[in-house]
Amino acid sequence: LTMAQDELKKIAAYKAVEFVESGMVVGLGTGSTAKHAVDRIGELLQQGVLSNIVGIPTSMKTHEQAMSVNIPLSDLDTHPVIDLAIDGADEVDPDLNLVKGRGGSLLREKMIEFASKKFVVIVDESKVVDYIGVSGLAMPVEVVPFCWKFTAQRLQLLFEEAGCVAELRTCPETGDPFVTDNRNYTIDLFFKKSIGDLKAAGDAILRLPGVVEHGLFVDMATAVIVAGDGGVTVKNK
Ligand code: A5P
Repeated sequence: LTMAQDELKKIAAYKAVEFVESGMVVGLGTGSTAKHAVDRIGELLQQGVLSNIVGIPTSMKTHEQAMSVNIPLSDLDTHPVIDLAIDGADEVDPDLNLVKGRGGSLLREKMIEFASKKFVVIVDESKVVDYIGVSGLAMPVEVVPFCWKFTAQRLQLLFEEAGCVAELRTCPETGDPFVTDNRNYTIDLFFKKSIGDLKAAGDAILRLPGVVEHGLFVDMATAVIVAGDGGVTVKNK
């Protein structure tokens, strides 16, 4: 990560936080971009510019970070309707569909962003793509650990025509399976060709027994804030 790219992430994050108003229930995203938004919300609370914010963290890591900057926190059971969620993404297409989860979280993100009246995505311009899934990078699927090889094989088969390769995500240090916040595993899908209709692809993945959730966020974002060398743009759905 170059300094410049992190600076762009920060610009996008700060722009999104401009949409946060006092009294809101706010979904707090996960990752290196969302981190800046969480820090900023903490700072504005500290300064008294914002008040009465309730944060709903989308991962254990964000929970810790939000605690460290003194954002009052709650959960979806207590606050089933969220005013605004702010989160990063791995890929964003022209229709504001997303790939998420390369950073290790996606299930809590999807639950919380599903429950949000507004979901603002923050990215630097490197995340913007014409078509989702053809970057050669992972499309993550969270699966139960039980017989994960079976699930991986079925996932691969499902997208055989797209030249799919399914790999268990492991921890680089130990080689052990990477374990999510919900004690599940992650299967990363790599495609050689387009997977076609994203909604249909996502639905097919969810129909496989063993799958918990996938990183395709179709029709969920209400706005995407892109920071690039030319400045910040806000794309609305
Ligand atoms: C976490 O797994 C993700 O869904 C992140 O939102 C996504 O990976 C983007 O993360 P960065 O902002 O770190 O690129």
